[in-house]
Amino acid sequence: MKIAVSSPDNLADFLRAKGIELDMRCGGTGRCGGCRVKLISGEWRCGETPAFPPEVVPACRTRLVGGRGVVEIPERDNSYAENISDMDIFGLPATPDTVVAVDVGTTTLAAIKIRDGAIIASSGAFNPQLRYGDNVLSRIAHVAAPGGLTELQSAILDSLRKLLDELDPTGVDRIAVSGNTVMCCLLHGVDPAMIGVYPFAPPQREFPPRRDLLPPFELLTLPCISGYLGGDITSGLYASRLRPGEMLVDLGTNCEIVFNTGNGFVGTSAAAGPAFEGVGLRCGMRAAPGAIEHYADDGCRVVGNIAARGICGSAYVDYLAVERAAGRLNEFGRFVSPAETYREIAPGVGIGENDVEQLLKAKAAIASGISALEGYCGVRADKLVLAGGFAAGLSPDNAVAIGMLPQQRKMLKIGNASLSGAAALASRPELYGELLRLSRLPREIPLAELPGFERRFVSALMLP
Ligand code: FES
Repeated sequence: MKIAVSSPDNLADFLRAKGIELDMRCGGTGRCGGCRVKLISGEWRCGETPAFPPEVVPACRTRLVGGRGVVEIPERDNSYAENISDMDIFGLPATPDTVVAVDVGTTTLAAIKIRDGAIIASSGAFNPQLRYGDNVLSRIAHVAAPGGLTELQSAILDSLRKLLDELDPTGVDRIAVSGNTVMCCLLHGVDPAMIGVYPFAPPQREFPPRRDLLPPFELLTLPCISGYLGGDITSGLYASRLRPGEMLVDLGTNCEIVFNTGNGFVGTSAAAGPAFEGVGLRCGMRAAPGAIEHYADDGCRVVGNIAARGICGSAYVDYLAVERAAGRLNEFGRFVSPAETYREIAPGVGIGENDVEQLLKAKAAIASGISALEGYCGVRADKLVLAGGFAAGLSPDNAVAIGMLPQQRKMLKIGNASLSGAAALASRPELYGELLRLSRLPREIPLAELPGFERRFVSALMLP
């Protein structure tokens, strides 16, 4: 599709005003390349340098310098689409209703349509709020801008309508969503500012059923636990039936952790960032066709068995483990060969030292969150219950090898637990009372209040 441009505004802003949504998963910082367009004619500047047709440029960094220009927008490919199977969702309720369940993540949205206990369609998208920042704090900050709350709410509602269209809304009885507390607040048009300041209390933990947000459908929302433990973790508690000695670890942009110590439930959340969801990295992408999903010394496995287009979180973990074991990465994540700062692992697809730095910060946040919570409780978890889309493809051995997960624990993966809870509530609204009961079990301890967290984080930045 070719578009005529006459405005000197930022090109991504100009296109958005025209109703053209680009993939802006790095929040417009020029790092992800998702918003690339081709210059066809006109005089342009990309960042500080002139750009000339037929260059391909990130729209978020580009503006027209004078006169008129034309750009070509690539056809939207299917790189966002989720392939969610029944295997990824715990205990799909077998009711005759046709319902939709949505996991509203900080970085991604995943949606499924269910009938008779089976998934009949699935879809996904990057959260369009990414253009306002890649974490919950930047979204909260945007709410303070004039019209910010309305912008964020409209962005998520628009995206949910598109997902519904992709799933075909015909015959849908109701929709349920599960997400972290900030995402739930923004969806309902509630100002989440209180979550950004001590004591991080949420303005609302429960959200009433709504018929005005996605008419004509009734929209149900999972109850949240606290400011940083959301409805996605309530879903995780429902899906995991967490027993004494078990720790639920939801590996998302925010790594949320709940430990059933046997003397109660204690939880915390660590800001891992979106690196393992493929955001902010040179060749990062979701686990969609063309994504390298596993990396080994003897080659890569690509989703869909097609040419590699990028790398998803599970392969990044493999990469760190394999390259460190082979002695090609040092303990600081630097390439041992001094001439190298970037290494290609498939034609046109590779990993740079900057990427490794982001990955090490993400894995350190997860590792230190787990160990600090165990330290606070004075007891070790016997079993880790791993939730989240990224966890589903993860090699636990490699996650242990890079120090992201602790050694010598039993591990169980439960897939996208947030979707499981949403599916349960959408199919059986009478479960709300039980979900509310679960949401009241954990006591949240802010990460900064866990003794030794900073020391643990710094030491976890190293590769073992
Ligand atoms: S949004 Fe433009 S490069 Fe990421």
